[in-house]
Amino acid sequence: ELTDITALLLSRIRDVADYPEPGVMFKDITPLLADPAAFTALTDAFAEVAERTGATKVVGLEARGFILGAPVAVRAGLGFVPVRKAGKLPGATLAQAYDLEYGSAEIEIHAEDLTADDRILVVDDVLATGGTAEASIQLIQRAGAEVAGVAVLMELGFLNGRPRLEAALDGAPVEAL
Ligand code: PRP
Repeated sequence: ELTDITALLLSRIRDVADYPEPGVMFKDITPLLADPAAFTALTDAFAEVAERTGATKVVGLEARGFILGAPVAVRAGLGFVPVRKAGKLPGATLAQAYDLEYGSAEIEIHAEDLTADDRILVVDDVLATGGTAEASIQLIQRAGAEVAGVAVLMELGFLNGRPRLEAALDGAPVEAL
């Protein structure tokens, strides 16, 4: 049973077959971003998670987590900190590598933008294998801050990302809208 907001959000996600490669059904959020009612509803729903979990900052994961996370930070009155693909941040970074299906990837954060008092809400569009979010949790913890929760628009449950995050999280919620 869907709430009105869930139905609105779902109606604004476009399935694109065979992108970026054959056999993959890509979940395109650009129609949602272009619809002010849907984008506002999503921002409000994420901001509610931020408030409920006592978050002090939002960490957004490149690239769609920037688009979704930044307005959440503003709406909830919190700071925003980007987790970027390796090589994009100019200052002193912490780096975390993680495995992909073929090969590996690395992400970075400016550790000085987090403090020991911070409680972080991690925001992204999709939770798939959980590799990106798990590495982000590790970065935040290594920076000395606490993860208040992980909030995503969509969870691809058949890829089993959630248990990976829960194992890294120590009780903080994983919320898929
Ligand atoms: C996608 C998505 C998440 C991640 C989820 O980003 O936006 O960040 O993959 O996958 P995972 O749970 O298996 O780690 P992508 O790597 O396509 O980066 P982009 O947004 O910069 O294109």
